[in-house]
Amino acid sequence: VRRIRWGILSTANIGRAAVNPAIQASANGELVAVASRDGDRAREFASKWSIPKHHGSYEALLEDPEVDAIYIPLPNSLHLEWTVRALDHGKHVLCEKPLGLNAQECRTMGQAADRNGRKLMEAFMYRFHPRTAKLLELVRSGALGKPRSIRSTFTFRLTRPDNIRLRPELGGGALMDVGCYCVNVSRTVAGAEPVEAQAWATWTPSGVDAELSGALLFPDGLVARFDCALDLERREVYEVGGTDACAMVEAAFLPGPGRPVILERRGRDEVRHEVEGLDQYRAMVEHFGSAILDDTPVRYSAQEAAANMAAIDALYESARTGGRPVPVRPAREA
Ligand SMILES: NC(=O)c1ccc[n+]([C@@H]2O[C@H](COP(=O)([O-])OP(=O)(O)OC[C@H]3O[C@@H](n4cnc5c(N)ncnc54)[C@H](OP(=O)(O)O)[C@@H]3O)[C@@H](O)[C@H]2O)c1
Repeated sequence: VRRIRWGILSTANIGRAAVNPAIQASANGELVAVASRDGDRAREFASKWSIPKHHGSYEALLEDPEVDAIYIPLPNSLHLEWTVRALDHGKHVLCEKPLGLNAQECRTMGQAADRNGRKLMEAFMYRFHPRTAKLLELVRSGALGKPRSIRSTFTFRLTRPDNIRLRPELGGGALMDVGCYCVNVSRTVAGAEPVEAQAWATWTPSGVDAELSGALLFPDGLVARFDCALDLERREVYEVGGTDACAMVEAAFLPGPGRPVILERRGRDEVRHEVEGLDQYRAMVEHFGSAILDDTPVRYSAQEAAANMAAIDALYESARTGGRPVPVRPAREA
């Protein structure tokens, strides 16, 4: 069985902490190279994490003929440039969320994948956890009745003032960093695209949203409310309110290795759906590897990422105008 030879573009924290080990543990991939803007950093990183090759520039990784796929965990403002360059070098790309700074960037990246005949996917790993599939099964089977309300939260407290998330020129902000999960899970559960967005934010002195609360209106009247923050105690939950029952999901996006649960409540009855635990990063990496090896479509296209960003574009426009309702433009036009 051929294995995908992966290269990592940068020595980012999320690579070190989650995705690099997931690639190294994957059944259909191996981590063969890392690149950094700094040659010494690349060498130290490679030696510490048992990566055979290191490159002192991102370009050198793109030129490496022994690399099939590149994982890009760069600051958000650099996703477009390096994804398109990697695709144009004939590499497949798994890029961190959010795929682009807006819907237009996601579309441009999708076009680059199409013209090069290469795979591209946004690394929203929670979608590969079996609990997400279980939740969707509960919703789609009608077990909750008709879903009418979705509420989600992703907040945490940033401690380092030099973090990329606080820098507007790098695509920082709470909505870009963690609110994008709330938007994603809301659209996924709704199984539709929102038509209108409203949001309110508080801004850091540097000009990114520190806290943002928003609402997305879907065509059938379902409303998804959410809040996200870079300066609040950690909370990470979502719930789906249906006409017959509701479902609550805690540790919503980072459930860890244990067996996570979904609580289904109906009046006084509560059913605990316990789901198999797994490394969702590894599941994502293996899915992407299989799509390359079998030449099958990735489960989540650049068009899907563009739709997420179309909602985020509208939410930001609303937040910047004090909560004015803003239509969400269809992703192909946004
Ligand atoms: N899916 C998830 O669970 C998850 C979790 C956290 C973050 N993320 C996403 O992953 C991406 C990276 O986040 P992170 O927290 O891992 O970032 P990070 O630790 O700050 O790493 C970003 C890397 O980008 C490179 N870089 C290139 N230009 C840079 C610049 N101007 N300023 C700073 N770094 C620059 C640096 O690597 P070199 O110096 O080696 O070139 C740096 O190590 C973001 O898109 C974020 O949204 C995803």
